[in-house]
Amino acid sequence: MAQEQSPSGGPDLTQGVAFAEFANGKLAGHVGDQEVLLVHSGTEIFAIAAHCSHYHGPLSDGLVVGDSIRCPWHHACFDLRSGEAVRAPAISSLACWRVEQRNARVFVHEKREQPRPRRGRAPAEAPDKIVIVGGGAAGFAAAEMLRRREFRGSIVMLSSDAATPVDRPNLSKDYLAGSAPEDWIPLSPDSFYDEAGIELRLNTEVTGIDTKARHVVTASGGKVAYDRLLLATGAEPVRLATPGADQPHVHTLRSLADCRAIIDAAKGTRCALVIGASFIGLEVAAALRARKIEVHVVAPEKRPMERVLGPEMGDFIRALHEEHGVVFHLEDTVVAIEGQRATLKSGGVLEAGLVVVGIGVRPRLALAEQAGLALDRGILVSAFLETSVTDIYAAGDIARWPDRHSDENIRVEHWVVAQRQGQTAALNMLGQREKFDAVPFFWSQHYDVPINYVGHAEQWDEVSIDGDIQAKDCLLKYKRKGRVLAVASIFRDLASLQAEVELEREAML
Ligand SMILES: Cc1cc2nc3c(=O)[nH]c(=O)nc-3n(C[C@H](O)[C@H](O)[C@H](O)COP(=O)(O)OP(=O)(O)OC[C@H]3O[C@@H](n4cnc5c(N)ncnc54)[C@H](O)[C@@H]3O)c2cc1C
Ligand code: FES
Repeated sequence: MAQEQSPSGGPDLTQGVAFAEFANGKLAGHVGDQEVLLVHSGTEIFAIAAHCSHYHGPLSDGLVVGDSIRCPWHHACFDLRSGEAVRAPAISSLACWRVEQRNARVFVHEKREQPRPRRGRAPAEAPDKIVIVGGGAAGFAAAEMLRRREFRGSIVMLSSDAATPVDRPNLSKDYLAGSAPEDWIPLSPDSFYDEAGIELRLNTEVTGIDTKARHVVTASGGKVAYDRLLLATGAEPVRLATPGADQPHVHTLRSLADCRAIIDAAKGTRCALVIGASFIGLEVAAALRARKIEVHVVAPEKRPMERVLGPEMGDFIRALHEEHGVVFHLEDTVVAIEGQRATLKSGGVLEAGLVVVGIGVRPRLALAEQAGLALDRGILVSAFLETSVTDIYAAGDIARWPDRHSDENIRVEHWVVAQRQGQTAALNMLGQREKFDAVPFFWSQHYDVPINYVGHAEQWDEVSIDGDIQAKDCLLKYKRKGRVLAVASIFRDLASLQAEVELEREAML
């Protein structure tokens, strides 16, 4: 039977489609003006919104695992039954529709009410007062999850930031490049906090924790009592010790305020100097090139990102940036910045109207140190994200946790890991005893090239390359003694999701 086509292609699902029309268990169509994806899992068929609630990734290219679907772009995971975003970076659920199977055809009817989350509500013995220190990825995800699980006690979120929690990864990408509108940046509208009963106190620095009296102390001397405390203070950029690095046109990038300061400076600059060929440094380079600014990158290493991605990918990333006009000064350092002139160790001099320093971050551990929590280049936490002091949890860039995949205690600086840890910590603060066992995932974006990375490989003895890096179609496996520790990919989204599932399975053995 001929089907009416929607503007985006695909049949009108209210008219029914035959099973034979499904490809790889999925079929995209529409209901009215809404794009809907049918997903076949086991004996059931589900109808969900066709695009991810994070950045609108096409779920038709995602991976179905049991009764969930994972997004191809940044690996969010949705429950097919409820539409719930069960794994960050998506936080909002997907719309779901009622499905009927009749005479070997599938019909989609009205939108369903959002069913309750499957992992249940807060137990009766939940604490009264939860305090979260930090208004970033982990802190926000924890607060949101507490309310999603119907925690009815008080949530106080203390953040030294001036802005409500923001989509930090965007600050070195589209927002800095000038291609993302302002309203993409907050993780939630301002009204969310009042509506959800989350007391968000901005510009509030926590300076101490009294673990016996069970309260935190703020810089203004205020005390905030807690039954459970989550530390999610993130990391801060390492400052350059070079003479002249304290001038106002030398920037680092962590907060929205930092990003706005760079954008303002970029408006009056012809030439920028990026110090450090890290992920953030090179994303900043790409964003500034989009603003037509001449960009020089100075870094001590031989190849950008070689330590994380290996030499082949390092060479590719360098060439990609060079194609876009970035000039590299590798195996070199800046020894002085005098006004708008930067002198290199090699003797060269570069114009430096705007300088952005991206030479790494260090976890913000002062509070934990003062409170006497066990530390090891981060706050040591259990698989439940508990610190060494009862009722204090830690998540995100500050937490070093027992990673069951590498069998090591690891600390990473990934957006999705911080959010997922915030969510797990929230459940555990409610007494649920859920282990944090997600496979680490991060992404990075350079011009139109996304790099996805699953797993964790600090050292490897072999990199196998499937596909062609130069053609931007590849999957790299980082192995030690034959075992795959991590997988990086460019435009191999499904394979990246499959690798994630494989790493999860291995860790269960
Ligand atoms: C520009 C940029 C781009 C990035 N891009 C990517 C990416 O593409 N992919 C990726 O995986 N990761 C990316 N990251 C890393 C990612 O953003 C971090 O891993 C993540 O934000 C960590 O979350 P967090 O909650 O631990 O810390 P944060 O998000 O940094 O939040 C920490 C919060 O704690 C507050 N705070 C700190 N100390 C105190 C105190 N004493 N009292 C009160 N509040 C305090 C801070 O103000 C802040 O609100 C990027 C980071 C930056 C800066
Ligand atoms: S677009 Fe789906 S996880 Fe980002």
